[in-house]
Amino acid sequence: MRIVSGIQPTGNLHLGNYLGAIRNWVKMQDDVAAGGGQSLYFLADLHAISMPHVPAELAANTREMVAALVACGINPDKSILFNQAQVPQHAELQWLLNGTARMGWLNRMTQWKDKAGKNREGASIALFTYPVLQAADVLLYQATHVPVGEDQKQHLELARDIAQKFNNDFASEDAPVFTLPDPIIPPEAARIMSLRDGSAKMSKSDPSDMSRINLTDDADTIMQKVKKAKTDPEPLPSEKAGLEGRPEAANLVGIFAALSGLSVDSVLADFGGEGFGKFKPALGELLVSKLAPINARFVELKGDTSALDAILRAGAAKARELAVPTLDKTYAALGLVRG
Ligand code: TRP
Repeated sequence: MRIVSGIQPTGNLHLGNYLGAIRNWVKMQDDVAAGGGQSLYFLADLHAISMPHVPAELAANTREMVAALVACGINPDKSILFNQAQVPQHAELQWLLNGTARMGWLNRMTQWKDKAGKNREGASIALFTYPVLQAADVLLYQATHVPVGEDQKQHLELARDIAQKFNNDFASEDAPVFTLPDPIIPPEAARIMSLRDGSAKMSKSDPSDMSRINLTDDADTIMQKVKKAKTDPEPLPSEKAGLEGRPEAANLVGIFAALSGLSVDSVLADFGGEGFGKFKPALGELLVSKLAPINARFVELKGDTSALDAILRAGAAKARELAVPTLDKTYAALGLVRG
């Protein structure tokens, strides 16, 4: 089993990033290592230039994201952790796969349609071919499994289509160039909502800092934010069904469940009938106990640019080594002469 996954480097990491994606990566890292497999995790910095961006922010966000991943438990000795920009084979393979990907396939991608909006003529070509780079990211390493959120399923299917067509067109049946990767979509990929509005996703771009728990928040800030979180006047129900139509209550209970590892029903078995005056302090303490060690590591690492760069450099060297054989095979299959 070889798992490969990427994440775009964004700044201001929060509880939603942790419970949504990062924590799942850590779990998979440990499971895969126990089974003798391998995990590769990378920062999709090359993908980040498909949208308007500020170069200095991209560089800062890339390093901040590495600090967060390591603080959350990605271990550079267990996983190969790197950024695309230091492994030129990603961009090279993308170009080679551009000969196989079809305009019609890319035109159907919902992320392209959403992000380009009405202004397709003004969108970058990188945004259009984004899914081909994503296919290169995983095919380059012969990934067998790719952990992604539901929203990336279509891109994974495209990667399979590209691999399949390439193998059909340029390889013999008994010696395919690419492995077809399977997506792994976590069953209840925790969807963490704003603390101020239970119908909006927790987001780094929400103008109110009270809407989210940042990985940089200290214990007092966390307790304050939970205390001030929006709720309703009813006590908690004793079963999940009672949370329907109560998005703020559902969100807080969901966070408690995700952090404690309990099901929503068993959280409610403990707290059903109680008001938020009792539940919120318990949630705040749970958050502090889970996040304090991450916070300490994160804050310390974030300032250590040379340590972060060393982690990325070492990860990239390992990634390049794994990438070369597949890239060589791809050039050869296409009849490209390299001396
Ligand atoms: N597009 C993914 C996202 O926005 C990030 C990504 C880039 C990725 N390359 C990948 C995810 C390869 C999995 C595999 O979440």
